[in-house]
Amino acid sequence: MRIMPKVTNNLARRILQRKSDPCASQTPAPSENTWQQVPAKFLTFETLPAYTNMRMMQEAARGLGIGDPFFKMHEGQASVVTRVNGKTCTNFSHYNYLGLSGHKEVNAAAIEAIQRYGTTAGASRLVAGERPVQRELEEALAKVYDAEDALVFVSGHATNVSTISTLFGPKDLVIHDQLAHNSILEGIRLSGATRRSFPHNNASFLDNTLRDLRSRFERVLIVVEGLYSMDGDIPHLPTLIAIKKRHGAFLMVDEAHSLGVLGASGRGIAEHFDANFKDIDIWMGTLTKALGTCGGFIAGSKILVDILKYHAPGFVYSVGISPPLAAAALAALKVMQREPERIMRLRQNSQAFLDYARKLGLNTGLSQGFSIVPIIVGSSKKAVQLSNELYERNINVQPIIYPGVEEQVARLRFFLSCDHQDEDLKKTCQTLKGLI
Ligand SMILES: Cc1ncc(COP(=O)(O)O)c(C=O)c1O
Repeated sequence: MRIMPKVTNNLARRILQRKSDPCASQTPAPSENTWQQVPAKFLTFETLPAYTNMRMMQEAARGLGIGDPFFKMHEGQASVVTRVNGKTCTNFSHYNYLGLSGHKEVNAAAIEAIQRYGTTAGASRLVAGERPVQRELEEALAKVYDAEDALVFVSGHATNVSTISTLFGPKDLVIHDQLAHNSILEGIRLSGATRRSFPHNNASFLDNTLRDLRSRFERVLIVVEGLYSMDGDIPHLPTLIAIKKRHGAFLMVDEAHSLGVLGASGRGIAEHFDANFKDIDIWMGTLTKALGTCGGFIAGSKILVDILKYHAPGFVYSVGISPPLAAAALAALKVMQREPERIMRLRQNSQAFLDYARKLGLNTGLSQGFSIVPIIVGSSKKAVQLSNELYERNINVQPIIYPGVEEQVARLRFFLSCDHQDEDLKKTCQTLKGLI
């Protein structure tokens, strides 16, 4: 009975509103305020652990007099020499392994595509339709991987997330190398599949796990990388192929860092081991490293590509690769194929850097000298300090710190390029040795 006057009042107000406001019928009456009951910490992002951790680290670094080595502003392109704040540095912090970003043919292809198509794909390719250059790039990538077809996404990270989560589900198992990239882990998480990992490059652990677990799942996926991005080593592909066949599993290889780097003509880890490309069910790669642009791709069977084309959210609900980027990546691929000497020079530089570092007693971890060489320094603080001290000496290299890697293996990560000069490689190792 008590609430009657309130109800009547509300009703009267609504009727009156409807009369004066033609849109009122669509506007719900405001409900009670609830925000006063919410603890203040949930009304701000400042209390998120991600933010508080970041602030703590920044304050600790300031207290120790260590400058922030991240987000430096570079004045030119990502190449072996860079200018930061007017200072010229030898640069080891980019993936431009083959010097193809900034290459005149690659730039010209992008400019021509801009003049013809503008800078956007318009919308998702399902909506906006195709531009010939997008399909030409996919056909060229499919050829590299001896695959029936390929599909290009706008980001390498999104390629892994979308592909794994589209193909696998709660009744499946995905087992990955312990050092797998975050995009692989996010894809598995989203898929709802059971996740297991195996110790880095430990094929017998993988084999035994599958022997024990295989029968409990429908589909099983093994995911590895062609070249590990933090450590610079590679898996033994022939063994993985044997294991996947033995247990009726699919094998996915992330070639982000191995396309253009491994194999005499840059076709990646299968070429390196002279393996049959068709034994790998899902080839994943990026356009962001050796091909010097932006985007990711999947190469494999026509069925696989068709499923992703119509179902992968990162493709269906995301804009298509922009024509200038597709044209640039295609041009870069052509230069790579025409000039295998770039791959040879990259290999020589990587091997030389690894040798100089090892001879000086620097800890290069597992690196096999294929474009990525870490120098493990044992703590995040030391890695940041060394990065800053090298920068003062005109050498730009980024630290990799916890949680990117375990604290005790915090490191400086050197990316090598075919354009580095031998004397710069030697000098860098000597300078670093003098600081450690
Ligand atoms: C192994 C691996 N996969 C996927 C990615 C994501 O690629 P992108 O940077 O093109 O989004 C990276 C990025 O560095 C990577 O190292």
